[in-house]
Amino acid sequence: MKRSFPTINHFRIFLHLPKISFDRRAKRLKTALTIWDLRVQAKKRTPRGPFDYVDGSAESEASLARARNIFSNIEFQPSVLRDVSSASTRTTSLGHTFDLPFGFAPTGFTRMMHAAGEVAVAQVAAEFNIPYVLSTLGTTSIENVVAGAPKGTNWFQLYMLKDMARNLETIDRAKAAGVDTLVLTVDVPVSGLRLRDARNGLTIPPSLTFRSLIDFCKKPGWLANYLTTPPLEFAAMSSWNGTVAEMLDALFNPSVTFEDLEWIRERWGGSLVIKGIQTPEDAIKCVELGANAIILSNHGGRQMDRAVPPLAQLQEVVELVAGRAEVHLDTGITHGGDIAAALALGADFVWVGRSYLYGLMAGGQGGVKRAVEILSQELVRTMKLLGVTTIEELDKRHIKMPSC
Ligand SMILES: Cc1cc2nc3c(=O)[nH]c(=O)nc-3n(C[C@H](O)[C@H](O)[C@H](O)COP(=O)(O)O)c2cc1C
Repeated sequence: MKRSFPTINHFRIFLHLPKISFDRRAKRLKTALTIWDLRVQAKKRTPRGPFDYVDGSAESEASLARARNIFSNIEFQPSVLRDVSSASTRTTSLGHTFDLPFGFAPTGFTRMMHAAGEVAVAQVAAEFNIPYVLSTLGTTSIENVVAGAPKGTNWFQLYMLKDMARNLETIDRAKAAGVDTLVLTVDVPVSGLRLRDARNGLTIPPSLTFRSLIDFCKKPGWLANYLTTPPLEFAAMSSWNGTVAEMLDALFNPSVTFEDLEWIRERWGGSLVIKGIQTPEDAIKCVELGANAIILSNHGGRQMDRAVPPLAQLQEVVELVAGRAEVHLDTGITHGGDIAAALALGADFVWVGRSYLYGLMAGGQGGVKRAVEILSQELVRTMKLLGVTTIEELDKRHIKMPSC
């Protein structure tokens, strides 16, 4: 080995000084390279009750674990020697063109996770040109979401409550606010049993006990936001002293049937999406009753324990529906590759829940933005590695499903 004295060229490499940033939150969020990294940051910053409300699912939590497992167990079959210098993630759904093939699923009580809440999520959706669905159990009204993100595609999710006058009023309010798509969730005839919430004694809004007070004090950022922003309120009622499950059972109407779809279809008039479909037969029934799209979903594993993973049923449902309506999917998506897999197996569009909520809890609006950056970069990388440059080119030949 021949040696020489170091020259200026040897030192040039050290001169690439990192950009100095005084925004510590942005810097921290940038260190999150995956949705799981955001989850770690979220857990550090959010009291146990709200964090577990998001992170947990029903009973043994098998539904969520299995839905995630099926995504991690699929095998990609890349096509090589294709020109993938640029790729487009544009797609259309229900008459809209979106820049990414996924949207933010409805999640209740979002301001409990972080005071920035629904408006922050809707603003990120608008920035990335993807849809946001506000839940009936949202902690911000539809009017305020639309005012906060006027350029966004803001949709509304309806739970059928026992109070029929309220259902009609909610539908009409969404229409009056300019919403063109109603997402009717049908998989909550009764609340699933979420053991973490029961064990944490979670109430809405979170109640002050000796235990929760200690927990809140350990998360000073969350507490300061909570105490200095308007108190938590949501569309259906302003507070409830029992557990979340008791509240849902008191509010929701367990006697809703397919017959109700007909009057809802008529009253609404716009695009109608039925969320929470878990069998091919139910998918077809909804399409025959006029649904424009169905969402294959087990509610992020929060309702039925040991429910079938939506991805396992996707191809059969897509074949049966055969272009008469769109088939969407959610539950278990934590990586852009999961999104690519669902689209390749025939989904027209996919939805994420926890992935953006982990971002929200990790860093408010900036955290939600980081979640979209992570998912979209993973999606583009997966597409290019598969040898495709458009969403339409994603095909089932790119995926080998796990054998069981
Ligand atoms: C904290 C939380 C609250 C939710 N609230 C609602 C809701 O109010 N309405 C609804 O239709 N679905 C609700 N969901 C289900 C989501 O819309 C979606 O189906 C689910 O999160 C998808 O699974 P993923 O979290 O694995 O992406 C909620 C999910 C979570 C995690």
